[in-house]
Amino acid sequence: MHQDCERILLTEQQICTRVKEVACEVDARYAGKFPLVVGILKGSIIFYSDFIRELSCPVELDFMAVSSYGSGAVSSGKLKIKKDLDRDVKGRDVIIVEDIIDSGFTLANLKTLLLERGAASVIIVTLLNKAERREYDISPDYNCFDIENEFVIGYGLDYNERYRNLPYIGILKHEVYE
Ligand code: IMP
Ligand code: MG
Repeated sequence: MHQDCERILLTEQQICTRVKEVACEVDARYAGKFPLVVGILKGSIIFYSDFIRELSCPVELDFMAVSSYGSGAVSSGKLKIKKDLDRDVKGRDVIIVEDIIDSGFTLANLKTLLLERGAASVIIVTLLNKAERREYDISPDYNCFDIENEFVIGYGLDYNERYRNLPYIGILKHEVYE
């Protein structure tokens, strides 16, 4: 285990088993369809790559990078698009793949945006859900694990851009960010 980890929350094996289970459920819903699978950079990339390889329907891949304006105390409550999609979502069935839903700000705004652009349908698939932290009226259609209000790293998730490559999900030691 990495020295900055308090403990391992989810092992590689637990993640692998659950991601397959969830992908299988999602796959059943898209039989005969050709969804556009939108990964939210960068946190979702590892989950995304494991998830899409479990889908049997044909898929098209695309990515977006977003952040909220004014990090910290003052937030204008607006989503900033750092990298937009390459594809037009008009008439498409979109699957948004995200690492974690926390306040719900990112996903609430993204879902609205893609529907405004004319997507035929938009569903949200998350690896982790911190339900206790929710401030926006949004929930994932599919979620792999509900977790407590702890800061987690690994399997794509970072703290200051570090730890994304850990193969498991760990709880970051408080002294690292305090
Ligand atoms: P939301 O917009 O408040 O739902 O925040 C979602 C984003 O916050 C995620 O895409 C992550 O980038 C980040 N985030 C929230 N909690 C954690 C965590 O425990 N570890 C790493 N990133 C997190
Ligand atoms: Mg993120």
